[in-house]
Amino acid sequence: MTRIVLQGGTIVDSRGEYDGDVAIENGRVVEVGENLRGDDVIDATGCIVAPGFVDLHAHLREPGKEEAETIETGSRAGAKGGYTALVAMPNTDPPQDSVAVIDFVREQGKRAGLVEVVPSGCITLGRRGEALAPMAELAAAGVRIFTDDGSGVQDELLMRRAMEYGKGLGITLAQHCEVASLTKGAVMNECQCCTSLGLPGWPSIAEELMVYRDIELARLTGARVHFLHLSTARSVELVRAAKHDGLPVTAEVTPHHLSLDETRLTTFDTVYKVNPPLRSPRDIAALRAGVLDGTIDALATDHAPHPRRDKELALDQAPPGMLGLETALGVALGVLQIDVAHLVRVMSINPARIAGIEDRHGRDIEPGAPANLVVFDPHATWQVVPEALASKSRNTPYVGMTMRGRVRHTLFNGAFTVRDGEAQR
Ligand code: DOR
Repeated sequence: MTRIVLQGGTIVDSRGEYDGDVAIENGRVVEVGENLRGDDVIDATGCIVAPGFVDLHAHLREPGKEEAETIETGSRAGAKGGYTALVAMPNTDPPQDSVAVIDFVREQGKRAGLVEVVPSGCITLGRRGEALAPMAELAAAGVRIFTDDGSGVQDELLMRRAMEYGKGLGITLAQHCEVASLTKGAVMNECQCCTSLGLPGWPSIAEELMVYRDIELARLTGARVHFLHLSTARSVELVRAAKHDGLPVTAEVTPHHLSLDETRLTTFDTVYKVNPPLRSPRDIAALRAGVLDGTIDALATDHAPHPRRDKELALDQAPPGMLGLETALGVALGVLQIDVAHLVRVMSINPARIAGIEDRHGRDIEPGAPANLVVFDPHATWQVVPEALASKSRNTPYVGMTMRGRVRHTLFNGAFTVRDGEAQR
């Protein structure tokens, strides 16, 4: 049995920052201390040793769109980004609304063996927004987070019923907040640019109305609600007020909404087309403030791979979405004045709790904990070269950019999935 020792790093978990070596055997942390000995000793000097990142929002595209990504390639991209768990979004083909598809996604994740793939379940059958999916059956099969992501649940009664049901099942409902009648044909944020470019505008109110509605439904039903990829200043204010009222709501933002603004689309480059759209500098400032003051619980990538052929379509035809798993850490460190303990909270500890996997991810690094860990150098820089990405797709908006913060090693269940920056399988 090999004993791995991560030596000389700074350990960061929910208890704060402290120096120490970490010994790993048999998939678990077995010892934390000074001058530990082992068979495989890794020099972690200058690095952070933290619980592996957990992404609440990854489109892995399998089954159905394996041309864009597979569970294996998406898992590899995740491992390279420092992730040990990915919540797989349900807008696959077929969608994740049956135990058979949930089991398939989970099994493919196990087969790849690079991260834990945590399937989300659909709220409505086929994500059509007409009738509830078999939520109890899916919950009995281990699903802890339900969403129709890619679209929001439009019908108020159906959403109310989903929350009443969800409350009884003890699961979390994750909402893609978009009132569809307000975004028909929309391409970019409703702003001055969109008017002068002649591109149909995507108003902030389309998101905020649904955030507001679901906060009030959460107040009524007591259900746990998570808001996906929030993008506007007013959404952050609504969540802040809801938390102030003690409601069981949580929220995430993406690295791209924290780093890129609406003017990117003046180039007509479809790589910047995303749902919800890139917003204004004022919105970006509010999102960043929301992360820093704890209103926003998690950074989530909305990793949305698309094949070149699809992204080469005209702006109104091209699908929305951009890659995120391999650049999230670099973007977060680049745009947020965030201390590393808080970074670990929003990238690992909080998302693990929201996904219901806190028994094995986002845990304190202490004897007995499963060794799901990331080792990253917060000062090392690297350049984004699309060809070097592990994802099957290339639609990253950060081509050529220099990122600060490099994942050195990722360990999943005590084994290296990434070592010295290289995927191990
Ligand atoms: O930009 C997006 N792309 N937002 C979503 O909500 C869905 C995603 C996708 O599936 O491509």
